[in-house]
Amino acid sequence: MKMPSSSATNLKKEGLRHLLKTQDYTKKELNDILELMAMLKEARKENALPQLFKGKSVAMIFEQPSTRTRVSFETAATMLGGHALFLSPKDIHLGSKESLEDTGRVLSRMVDVIMARVDEHSTVAGLAEQASVPVINGLCDWLHPTQIMADLFTMAEHLPEGKSLSDLTVAFVGDATNVTSSLMFACTKFGMTFKHICPERFKAPQKWVEIALDNCEASGGKLVITDNTDEVAGCDIIVADSFYWFGQEDEKELRLSTFIPNYVVTQELMDKAGPDAMFMHCLPANDTRECTREVMESPRSVIFDEAENRLTAQMALLVYFTHHHIQAPTEATLTMHKDKIEGFLKTL
Ligand code: CP
Repeated sequence: MKMPSSSATNLKKEGLRHLLKTQDYTKKELNDILELMAMLKEARKENALPQLFKGKSVAMIFEQPSTRTRVSFETAATMLGGHALFLSPKDIHLGSKESLEDTGRVLSRMVDVIMARVDEHSTVAGLAEQASVPVINGLCDWLHPTQIMADLFTMAEHLPEGKSLSDLTVAFVGDATNVTSSLMFACTKFGMTFKHICPERFKAPQKWVEIALDNCEASGGKLVITDNTDEVAGCDIIVADSFYWFGQEDEKELRLSTFIPNYVVTQELMDKAGPDAMFMHCLPANDTRECTREVMESPRSVIFDEAENRLTAQMALLVYFTHHHIQAPTEATLTMHKDKIEGFLKTL
């Protein structure tokens, strides 16, 4: 018996990149992903998606529930000819019986991408530490980078007449969530004006502000941190998110009483923003808390385009992070292996 080399996978780590945060990527690289999204969305519309993830797999680890992230990654993998595995902490050893680093190494021998929605950023970073395939952050306590690719794309699809992304003013009304941080970093990287409108008690930490201000210095963007909801006036986009998330249940009453009613995105607040202001929300939304059903259903709401673009983003991310490793076999290699295996099977 002739044995092949000890690993069937490409374990070279040079050039390997993870998507733990969009901040690790240049504006040009993020724009490349947006361009890829546009091409894949167009191909999907014409039912003509190239099978760019054929024969490949993405392991999807979920420590928290998810509708959009789970369905979009699984569907994207299938539509591009590949496969997705759903793994909850009940199904696998995740930092308990096996270290995160070993889990990342083992999964790397079997799948082509690891996507993880985790309670803490250190978990997704731990998986990436020794992984030899790309690790994508599907949401952690700090960031939600795949959401933000969908958000940037949705903004680009709905640009006001004569404006480019860098001309936009985006107001995030509400808590300093993982979507707030990711949007703050991405918008300021693209040269936009980003306003976080939030009660003083729950405002964005200084560490986020410093990252965003560095981005502004490089891009010409602007950051405004305020508790004054009048600051929505003239903004192109108003964004809302949940007032509390997993792990913050013990602060629920305090948070709701601090944010409601002043920081609820109502029709009145949208009118204050201006007649053309758009409404965005990563969803799931609570239409009795952070926003009203009237706003969600209004013609200025793009929330369901935004949700659909999670799929557009995941298609692009699976392709972007694996295309370097795609080595299509030659016809001769395919024939050689087929003849060899079939020849052996005939002898059994
Ligand atoms: N926006 C978002 O991440 O949705 P899910 O929690 O449903 O994945």
